[in-house]
Amino acid sequence: MGQIEEYLNRRAEDINRALNFYMPKSPAMPVIEAMLYSAEAGGKRLRPILTLATAETLEGDVEAVMPVAVAVEMIHTYSLIHDDLPAMDDSDLRRGRPSCHIAHGEAMAILAGDGLLTLAFELVSGYGMANGNPEKALIICRELARASGVEGMIGGQVLDLQAEGKKLELHELEQLHALKTGALLTCSVRCGAIAADADDDCLQALTVYASKLGLAFQIVDDLLDLSGTAETLGKMPGDDRAHQKSTYPALIGVEESQRKAEELYGDALQALDTLKKPAPLLEGLAGKLVFRDR
Ligand code: IPE
Ligand code: IPE
Ligand code: MG
Ligand code: MG
Ligand code: MG
Repeated sequence: MGQIEEYLNRRAEDINRALNFYMPKSPAMPVIEAMLYSAEAGGKRLRPILTLATAETLEGDVEAVMPVAVAVEMIHTYSLIHDDLPAMDDSDLRRGRPSCHIAHGEAMAILAGDGLLTLAFELVSGYGMANGNPEKALIICRELARASGVEGMIGGQVLDLQAEGKKLELHELEQLHALKTGALLTCSVRCGAIAADADDDCLQALTVYASKLGLAFQIVDDLLDLSGTAETLGKMPGDDRAHQKSTYPALIGVEESQRKAEELYGDALQALDTLKKPAPLLEGLAGKLVFRDR
């Protein structure tokens, strides 16, 4: 196993442990059961790993930033639960299990998403109280709220639904992807950088790195919907075509989409070159985000 795979596995375990620690502990409540069901189902944990890896690259306190990383994963997991609902993508399989609404019913799935979203902000508040720097936590709170809100992920999800059955201009599709997926992924890097007291130039370079990767990540997700299997993806391929989604391969074809993802990967690495010190960890993670089969 390569160094980066080892890093990914180790950090995914760290995230799983911390996620478990921060989840509510009374599964007698059906909504908590539903939250645990989706959070424990696994997933690659790439966003929180990016938060930790960014803090680590900038020599910040990685342990201290863990609640922020977990908060990012909670928001991501909530977005998946709601994304799968019948009123949205109507997907029955997620992270290798029946989707939350299939296993727990629609009402509990909606509430489980709400529960994860609100819990995320409780965690960031706790981070501020514990590290003696409430101002930093306040900045991180605002970043997370913006990235996941109507000017970020939720806005992108709205555009995604409105774009079903339509032929968008390429710049419109880019905007859709940047919002629905790029915003939270970029935020996961920015939060790690802010926690590690990054200066403005560094934050700017990392923002470019992450936004390029965020767009590439969704293009690859679109490609995998065409080429992947339910077994490897843990979700049903072919959903995008069934819903006439606006995707990169639908608009510009498979090969051109692959080329675009690779170009964005190159752009992300170039952004890292402008940092004061080399960032091999973030470089390696970029490769894993773009060249993946699940
Ligand atoms: C899936 O994200 C949804 C997108 C934004 C493309 P991931 O591919 O990171 O899903 P998990 O967390 O590993 O399940
Ligand atoms: C999801 O995009 C983006 C989210 C914000 C959840 P998709 O709808 O393509 O994600 P999958 O393919 O269902 O994971
Ligand atoms: Mg969707
Ligand atoms: Mg979906
Ligand atoms: Mg998809």
